[in-house]
Amino acid sequence: MARPKIALIGAGQIGGTLAHLAAIKELGDVVLFDIADGVPQGKALDIAESGPSEGFDAALKGTTDYADIAGADVCIVTAGVPRKPGMSRDDLLGINLKVMKSVGEGIRDNAPDAFVICITNPLDAMVWALQQYSGLPAEKVVGMAGVLDSARFRHFLSLEFDVSMKDVTAFVLGGHGDTMVPLTRYSTVGGIPLPDLVDMGWTTQDKLDAIVQRTRDGGAEIVGLLKTGSAYYAPATSAIEMAEAYLKDQKRLLPCAAWVDGALGLKGMYVGVPTIIGAGGIERVVDIKLDRAEQEMFDKSVEAVRGLVEACKGIDETLA
Ligand code: APR
Repeated sequence: MARPKIALIGAGQIGGTLAHLAAIKELGDVVLFDIADGVPQGKALDIAESGPSEGFDAALKGTTDYADIAGADVCIVTAGVPRKPGMSRDDLLGINLKVMKSVGEGIRDNAPDAFVICITNPLDAMVWALQQYSGLPAEKVVGMAGVLDSARFRHFLSLEFDVSMKDVTAFVLGGHGDTMVPLTRYSTVGGIPLPDLVDMGWTTQDKLDAIVQRTRDGGAEIVGLLKTGSAYYAPATSAIEMAEAYLKDQKRLLPCAAWVDGALGLKGMYVGVPTIIGAGGIERVVDIKLDRAEQEMFDKSVEAVRGLVEACKGIDETLA
């Protein structure tokens, strides 16, 4: 059986890391696409040359021609510009919306059966625009945000509790921005919910609140340190987790920016929700119950996403 084909649209910091991870994990053959001629070819060759030492079997190709992504099983989109210090994800909207148009059309014309994972920011609006421009079924177009935000939350929690991050589960829902909703009630250490751990005296509410805020600011913290761009190792790893769930039909329950029509009281929009990813793409949106405080935070986040989508419609009237 032929190896799966993974097309990476955007061969920058995240794109290159995605290619390296996909090859090391032998998820399939990799095509790196970018408009900056030489960059995708150079990165593909460099990673291919790591193959003999690492011992992976995967073909890598760099290209500036969309024809080379033909028949891809998975497309992961990072094309666009990242944040610089002082910028919010929302500041990227105008530039990256134009990029989503060309990428969406490229996928529509060359890889219409792919499972598409968008990483470009502002995430919730860009994945919506990408689905519109590509015309692919909504269950096959998804945004990577919740896995990364939850991973950041899990990392900080594992430090606070001094336990393996393997035993920390966490859920972050809502839009991938300042209004994201880390759900402490649904986050656990070895199955014990965080509020119970506060009651048990393992941590304090103040410390937990600080961790929640650090999670919300997780992307900005990295941008502030790097100064020249935004995070790429953890974002790439998170998207690979989603791609693997699809390619191996793992039925993973992962928080993703998915099309929600009915669940959580929402009517037709992209936002971060718990989903199940398997061979069918987004096979299910998990309709969890929120308490009043959680619902208020989620509603605020949903409103922020709606505002960005409206701003996209203001820029390009062809968007419905
Ligand atoms: N088509 C294809 N590639 C494009 C296009 C386009 N229309 N426009 C820009 N690119 C390419 C750039 O040439 C660059 O190589 O996208 C790549 C982006 O790479 P980086 O600038 O290194 O950005 P990166 O850190 O990978 O982040 C990409 O993901 O997390 C988000 O906010 C982040 O929106 C940003 C995206």
